Amino acid sequence: MIKAAITAVGGYVPDFVMTNDELAKLVDTNDEWITSRTGIKERRILKEPGKATSDMMVFAVEELLRKRGITALDIDLLIVGTITGDLIFPSTANIICDKIGAKNAWGYDLAAACSGFIFALATGSQFIETGKYKKVVVIGVDKMSAILDYEDRTTCVIFGDGGGAVLLEPSEDGNGIQDFILKSDGCGRKYLYQTAGGSLMPPTHETVEKRLHFVHQEGQAVFKNAVVNMAEVSADIMTKNHLTADDIAWLAPHQANKRICEATANRMGLSPDKMMMNIERYGNTTAGTIPLLLWDYEKQLKKGDNIILSAFGGGFTWGSIWVKWAYDGSKVGK
Ligand code: UT7
Repeated sequence: MIKAAITAVGGYVPDFVMTNDELAKLVDTNDEWITSRTGIKERRILKEPGKATSDMMVFAVEELLRKRGITALDIDLLIVGTITGDLIFPSTANIICDKIGAKNAWGYDLAAACSGFIFALATGSQFIETGKYKKVVVIGVDKMSAILDYEDRTTCVIFGDGGGAVLLEPSEDGNGIQDFILKSDGCGRKYLYQTAGGSLMPPTHETVEKRLHFVHQEGQAVFKNAVVNMAEVSADIMTKNHLTADDIAWLAPHQANKRICEATANRMGLSPDKMMMNIERYGNTTAGTIPLLLWDYEKQLKKGDNIILSAFGGGFTWGSIWVKWAYDGSKVGK
């Protein structure tokens, strides 16, 4: 049976580093609070005027193509998990395809907030498994700074900009995406949202004045739901597939909060050294966190490693994917 294997990874974070101390000059916060509550020390911000989400992913996709030794013309389909597309429409996938010259590809965006990458990965894998396509690029990325209120200390300290891309190709050696459990519950929409700018409340002077175009989060409610559901779905995918903690090489948890990641690893019975973490450097990049983890840890990943990808986010949306890694990352040049 054909499986969809991840055969290359690319990533991008902007150069500008915003530290906790820098944020403490903008809002009433401090390094101690941010570090102890979230694990974040700094995040990257895309500052250059005129640069958007698509520009970050041009770098990531070009890296992935270089590593795999193929060109943009080889791509059949490109899916972008994001909630901060360049424009309301057309899709950021279209824009990326145009900028990289992927003239044989079609594409679309998928909005599932922090679960955007895993939802897109599961979707993309189906086009490979059916035999329809040979090369699908799946992206998770967000430019959160575009929708953050730098006067709201409860949100602006958490999020950052960045993301990554993976290439999916058919594999017949058993490696690749093995299973996924994905969930959504629209009742969660009252705890994490952006009020204005959509068809419910189109932009007006008033929506801008009332700061309704920014992210609003009820942190504690989201935390409680995230900690339970991300841990539960990660344990469920193990039980469903008869996997024990010894079988798992890595957990790649959405980097929402260090405490949520630790609770998930704990529920799965995993030791902390099996948990990928980079929240301290990038913060929460929403759909970008999981591909950025794969990008950062690529060198340590071995062919056949069982990896569990898990996320929880706005919607609510959440889920886990079991991947058998398809290549030795140590052999890949940057
Ligand atoms: O990725 C998408 C899904 N999102 C998540 O998973 C995020 C889940 N939520 C969280 O990670 C946490 O709820 C936060 C990190 C957002 C907040 O941590 P918390 O431990 O839940 O803090 P809290 O909201 O209960 O606030 C505790 C106190 C409050 O002060 P009082 O009322 O106790 O006086 C806040 O006003 O901390 C205050 N506070 C801050 N203080 C300093 C809130 N934000 C800040 C801040 N700096 N940045």
